[in-house]
Amino acid sequence: MMTIEQLSVRYGPVTAVEDVSFSVKSGEVLALIGANGAGKSSILKGILGLVSASGAISVAGAQLEAMPSNARVAAGVALSPEGRHVFPQMTVTENLELGYVGHGMNDMEDAIADMFALFPRLKERHQQQAGSMSGGEQQMLAIARALMSKPKVVMLDEPTLGLAPIIVEQLIDLLATLKRRGLAVLLAEQNAEMALQASDNVRVLDMGRIIRGGQSRDLAADPGIRASYLGM
Ligand SMILES: Nc1ncnc2c1ncn2[C@@H]1O[C@H](COP(=O)(O)OP(=O)(O)O)[C@@H](O)[C@H]1O
Ligand SMILES: [Mg+2]
Repeated sequence: MMTIEQLSVRYGPVTAVEDVSFSVKSGEVLALIGANGAGKSSILKGILGLVSASGAISVAGAQLEAMPSNARVAAGVALSPEGRHVFPQMTVTENLELGYVGHGMNDMEDAIADMFALFPRLKERHQQQAGSMSGGEQQMLAIARALMSKPKVVMLDEPTLGLAPIIVEQLIDLLATLKRRGLAVLLAEQNAEMALQASDNVRVLDMGRIIRGGQSRDLAADPGIRASYLGM
């Protein structure tokens, strides 16, 4: 569904990502793990066109690298950003409306109804100001907002950051649901334990480069990965 070839991201003299290539299939969760500063967010932002990047990005057969960000979203890629960034003064419903990309009120209402089916908690709180909700609820709203554009590929940047274990379990369940719906999911996580549990395949990043990759269940059993990333 999405193929990335030789993606590099530079901030002036700083090379944040160098020659990264991978692909994500429909119904697959691919995890990017690595320490703080490894380049995970820069990859996601480079894919969406929020930072300048070189390399090739294809989503559902379309080449994205020359498109502005909004066209990339229309082509089927969406990002739930690190730090969540919901609009705190706006209601849950208004936040969802901002994620909508398309034509026509009925279609938008259908998309909101679909998100309320996926996240019953957001339905209960639909008139509440987003900023008054818990961190876990705000994270679910940030993901739902990304899903409002009906993406083929959804990218989640550090969704578990700062959240309680019970919410992390809910996020793992959500990933299983998104897979069943046929989405391709790209998950960036410092929480390697969660990422290895919730993903099919994984790429390990260090200083902007992929240093390991494979099936999540294999890497979760690898002594080197366990020592470096799982603290075991
Ligand atoms: N806007 C920026 N300007 C300059 N350097 C940046 C910027 N954003 C990130 N970096 C640098 O790029 C590298 C990768 O950062 P980032 O992609 O945020 O990593 P991660 O998400 O894995 O923590 C780090 O060295 C970071 O300091
Ligand atoms: Mg990051």
